[in-house]
Amino acid sequence: MAERSSFVVVANRLPVDEVTTPEGRQWRPSPGGLVTALHPVLVRERGTWIGWAGGTGDAPEPFELEGINIHPVPLSAQELERYYEGQSNATIWPLYHDAVETPAYKRSWRETYRAVNQRFAQAAAEVAAEGAVVWVQDYQLQLVPAMLRELRPDLKIGFFLHIPFPPIELFMQMPFRTEILRGLLGADLVGFQQRLAAQNFVRLARHLLGLRYEGQMIQVDGRQVKAGAFPISIDTAQMEQLAADPAIQARAKEIRGELGNPKTIILGVDRLDYTKGIELRLKAFRELLADGKLTVPDAVMVQVATPSRERVEHYQALRVKVEREVGRINGEFGRVGVPAVHYLHQSYSRSELAALYSAADVMMVTPLRDGMNLVAKEYVASRADTGGALVLSEFAGAATELRQAFLCNPHDPEGVKEVLLRAVNIEPAEARRRMRVMQRHLRTHDVDHWARSFLNELGVPEAA
Ligand code: ADP
Ligand code: G6P
Repeated sequence: MAERSSFVVVANRLPVDEVTTPEGRQWRPSPGGLVTALHPVLVRERGTWIGWAGGTGDAPEPFELEGINIHPVPLSAQELERYYEGQSNATIWPLYHDAVETPAYKRSWRETYRAVNQRFAQAAAEVAAEGAVVWVQDYQLQLVPAMLRELRPDLKIGFFLHIPFPPIELFMQMPFRTEILRGLLGADLVGFQQRLAAQNFVRLARHLLGLRYEGQMIQVDGRQVKAGAFPISIDTAQMEQLAADPAIQARAKEIRGELGNPKTIILGVDRLDYTKGIELRLKAFRELLADGKLTVPDAVMVQVATPSRERVEHYQALRVKVEREVGRINGEFGRVGVPAVHYLHQSYSRSELAALYSAADVMMVTPLRDGMNLVAKEYVASRADTGGALVLSEFAGAATELRQAFLCNPHDPEGVKEVLLRAVNIEPAEARRRMRVMQRHLRTHDVDHWARSFLNELGVPEAA
């Protein structure tokens, strides 16, 4: 058996992609902020990342990639449907996002969620060295902390929830609510994006289990479980560098040219998810065109919507609605060769995204609810003193930090339109001033800062 690790990350997805090269199929690191932040700790501690490799059937054997041990966990086709698409993405995801779409509850999904969580916990118990630190990530694995503690009481266990944690009234809808809460309480430290979410959690522990807490410290079966807020961020320096690259700047200029050098480019970049407020953003644009407050081709909108969770019903319905709205806007306001909305249902490379961010005068980030929203932070970091305006929903975690953005309430269409117009017409000096303040914040509050704060709180001194 391979050497055990003193640092283990457990996440639904592995930080690698399988790619086909002339030499055959190979694994390549996928460029996520989380793996960038944790890479140094993983390498130093001979760390292991446990996760699902995508696809169904047998998992590949564990392997090493760039100093990290990769430990794939298999999912069968039925588990993919019940654990990932069902319980994770049709029950928990909508419920935790303020039930902006109706959560579905099914017993078979819960049972499979439990079984898959047990498999992840088992894998962690096998690879973790005596007294190791295990950091469990996100809503797909909320039962893992308690399951792992049962198997390995010697471990130090952290849990971080990347999405919002709902108020008690909403959480109480969930049929196996007590089990989920007990699952999370298996950790020593439970981290959230927002202070309010941490508060929801400690109050829930009292409400549902009658547990006592002081501040954010909960007493559970003679142990102490700490809750806290650790707003996640991006690799700011890397984003700044990428955007400043002359090749990216040249590409940004080219994009503007391809769009007909309009006065204003309005950009949206999201997974195609109903929490992101893509429809309301399109509608705001359409109404401003109809009112004559914006005109084509002076103003164009680019919406990049990465395909996501495509077999889940709400996602299929959203795609139809978004594409219908895009068609309607282009039908009414476009001309031959001059669409009003450029809609791209595709995934883009980091460099193409950086070029798009650089090209955009206004970035619209309008989720109805979002744990953080890293796109907002990426846009700000890529604007290196060039101005640009960020329209940001108050319901994105990022709004707590990016106070110089044009904040809006996505539930109020008139408000969104007014804020969008203000952002379109901002004075360049004012735009630069706002950006500079937000950039300064992101330089000190990057993803590395996030990981260190969490690990320090968990009592991993090396993280300091
Ligand atoms: P979520 O985690 O809900 O998808 P975030 O905004 O926090 O939302 O993170 C999304 C991440 O995915 C960002 O790093 C962003 O750059 C990336 N991303 C979003 N859309 C695309 C796209 N079309 N192509 C490539 N990457 C994308
Ligand atoms: C959000 C979740 C992550 C998830 C990601 C992509 O950021 O918090 O846990 O990995 O969306 O979604 P997917 O379902 O494709 O993994």
